[in-house]
Amino acid sequence: MRFRSGVAIDLGTVNTLVSVAGRGLVIDEPSAIALDRATGRVAAVGQAADALAGKEPQDIEVLHPLRNGVIADLDAASAMLQGFVRRAKLRRGLLRTAAVVCVPGGATWVERRSLAAALSVIRPRCTLQLVDEPIAAAAGAGIDLAQGAGAFIVDVGGGTTESAVVAGGQIVRARSLRVGGNAMDDAIVTAVKAELGLMLGRNAARTLKTTLGLAGDGTGRMETVGVDAARRTPRVEQVPGWLVAQALEHIATAIVDCVQEMLSDIPPNLAEDVVRGKIRLAGGGAMLPGLADRIEAATGIPVVVVDDPLRCVARGAAEILEHGDGLQQGPVAQR
Ligand SMILES: Nc1ncnc2c1ncn2[C@@H]1O[C@H](COP(=O)(O)OP(=O)(O)OP(=O)(O)O)[C@@H](O)[C@H]1O
Ligand SMILES: [Mg+2]
Repeated sequence: MRFRSGVAIDLGTVNTLVSVAGRGLVIDEPSAIALDRATGRVAAVGQAADALAGKEPQDIEVLHPLRNGVIADLDAASAMLQGFVRRAKLRRGLLRTAAVVCVPGGATWVERRSLAAALSVIRPRCTLQLVDEPIAAAAGAGIDLAQGAGAFIVDVGGGTTESAVVAGGQIVRARSLRVGGNAMDDAIVTAVKAELGLMLGRNAARTLKTTLGLAGDGTGRMETVGVDAARRTPRVEQVPGWLVAQALEHIATAIVDCVQEMLSDIPPNLAEDVVRGKIRLAGGGAMLPGLADRIEAATGIPVVVVDDPLRCVARGAAEILEHGDGLQQGPVAQR
């Protein structure tokens, strides 16, 4: 067994996870940074920064530097990564050894370069390996990539939904939708405002999503608190399950359509692996109530949510860092 030293990073739209070889997962926090507006100094990173989002004190700006799985604000992303890497207490010069960073399969060359640039700001001479997220997700789901078996994996993250058929550490077919959990939250905020005249914060929308999801059967409902759109005062409201399900419908349909399109294009030699191996759902969105059932009903293929779906990609990235043999090599930058 080969053991490489270094760091594996799942820099996600909503959550960033950092594993250090030999030490395991050391960071699992929201992808957020808070800056002092007057001085530009970093006030907080990760959980502490995200907790300020939406309640922003006047002199603090909270940024989420990734959008749809890729860096939208390079300076903020670099500062955030720096904060995480510092907190991970890497030995000096460790990143010079190896860094595995996950990227959405659909990321453009420019987007891949911006990730490399963000890391090079922190550790100028590290050996960086960019790994497509579906490959890391498959590894994290326990698929033995080196054995060449085929697998169908769907990673529903905060900003992207990546569907892929992988075999032997290679992507055979892949599609990336630039929607995920954040778009679901936005859809719930919009629907609750339109139907009930109530303005919700992001956390309230998330709670409705994770509790009610797509499973609106006409009876379920949940209490939430928002601000009355007309009177501008706080109001408690019972939100019906059907409203949440209706708000999420177009996103669920897009995900199901994407999976079905991929299935209609599977090489015959992999069909058995996919059907017998089941469709594996990873990412936080995999836990959306009703999503796995919806995909299973539409495709006729069993669907399973992987173990600890929020950490699946990070687990796989750590695996690739430690036993990288036989895996697809993403674009590698020697920096
Ligand atoms: N139980 C749940 N049901 C539905 N959604 C959930 C649940 N738990 C977490 N989520 C959502 O999962 C998303 C975060 O998932 P994840 O950490 O996999 O995304 P990410 O890796 O940061 O994003 P991306 O891969 O798109 O860049 C958030 O939108 C969060 O609200
Ligand atoms: Mg992700």
